[in-house]
Amino acid sequence: MQDVLEMRLLLINGPNLNLLGKREIGIYGKTALETIESSLKDKASSQAIELEFFQSNFEGALVERIHQGMGNIDGILINAGAYTHTSIALRDALLGTNIPYVELHLSNTQSRESFRYDSFLADRAIGVVAGFGPYSYELAMQGLVNYLRTPK
Ligand code: DQA
Repeated sequence: MQDVLEMRLLLINGPNLNLLGKREIGIYGKTALETIESSLKDKASSQAIELEFFQSNFEGALVERIHQGMGNIDGILINAGAYTHTSIALRDALLGTNIPYVELHLSNTQSRESFRYDSFLADRAIGVVAGFGPYSYELAMQGLVNYLRTPK
């Protein structure tokens, strides 16, 4: 029997993350985004969670996808790539839709160039996961699911 759908999540990946597996392998590893997405989808479906994906290199497209989640998405996992450190528009979209979100990164942004230390998203996120490579996605999802399951 099919489990009743418990929640609907959206995974958003920002600029250059479509190049995962080919891009700066020493930092981001050899795993392609599609591989990360399909493994996460398996983990989600085994818990009756529906997981949608969106990747774009365009800030406005990311903003619009967040808007579309209003009223039908329970939580967002977001690796905003470089927009993490620059985008007030993404911050406003996340706060404006009021969808709980977790910020995540493959690399430990605090151990890299100083321009990666700041995030426009982190202070209003449920939490931030960084530095675990593709496993950051799994940890972020479990953190968000646990948050959403906890009675408020
Ligand atoms: C990243 C870290 C960002 O600073 C960088 O611009 C990225 C990837 C990460 O997943 O480690 O594109 O978000």
